[in-house]
Amino acid sequence: MNILLNNRIVPRESFSLDLEDRGFQFGDGIYEVIRIYDGILFEWEAHLERLVRSAKELMIPLPIPVNTLYQNLQLLVRDSEITDGSVYLQITRGSAPRFHAFPEKTDPTLVAYVREMQRPLEKMKKGIKVITAEDIRWLRVDIKSLNLLGNVLARQKAVEKGAGEAILIRDGMVTEGSSSNVFAIKGNHCFTHPANHLILNGITRQVVLRLLKDTDLTLKETPITLGELLEMDEVFITNTGQEVCPVIQIDEFKIGKGTPGIYTRQLQFAFELLIG
Ligand code: PDD
Repeated sequence: MNILLNNRIVPRESFSLDLEDRGFQFGDGIYEVIRIYDGILFEWEAHLERLVRSAKELMIPLPIPVNTLYQNLQLLVRDSEITDGSVYLQITRGSAPRFHAFPEKTDPTLVAYVREMQRPLEKMKKGIKVITAEDIRWLRVDIKSLNLLGNVLARQKAVEKGAGEAILIRDGMVTEGSSSNVFAIKGNHCFTHPANHLILNGITRQVVLRLLKDTDLTLKETPITLGELLEMDEVFITNTGQEVCPVIQIDEFKIGKGTPGIYTRQLQFAFELLIG
């Protein structure tokens, strides 16, 4: 397997992590996961835009111009010969003697690789059960940073309970999933948390917001309580890997009839048309 290392495609074996890489020591870095459908990087512009934003917020200089990065990613995908998969891309602030504040000079390290990925068709059809967990993350989760411990712990709890995702609750309000955004439908209103510092503004979320315009749903970008969530007709989560995935049970409570709802199906269908 080859990987992209800054501006070069090199064999995986030729990459080694420096002991003092700040990504390793402080989680001082950012990442993106981009879906590849039929050899094409889905929504790459939005992903790279979010990457640039994350880098700016953390004052990490991009090691290569974003246009070059896009070209390199295309080369990487072609080189991998994987037509359906995803690119994992991360940039760390680079390597320097351990000291919390930014070093005066570092060369950021960019690595990216492609892996195969199947669409989770069964889960998308039947829906998943999820649990709720307290949102213990920091207050800038809009930045797609490598610091994911709050997400990791919540997802671990879900796995231990046989659930497919953990929906995070901060001060009684639903924020998002451990690695997904949450949508909820009541009547013809579709609720999702506003894109502020308390959620990651998912690229799939942004696609769904566009698709909603072709339905008779009215978008309400307002936080809802856990109690309200449990009373919804339909709930679904979105992310790069799971697309639009129905939620049929939250903790011990069934959502609607306990089967994927009609609007969720409509949005799944619309999403399917987009990806060809
Ligand atoms: N995570 N919220 C969080 C906390 C996430 O980690 C993710 C995605 C999303 C959805 O974003 P998008 O639609 O752009 O995938 C929302 C990726 C997939 C991951 O960490 O693997």
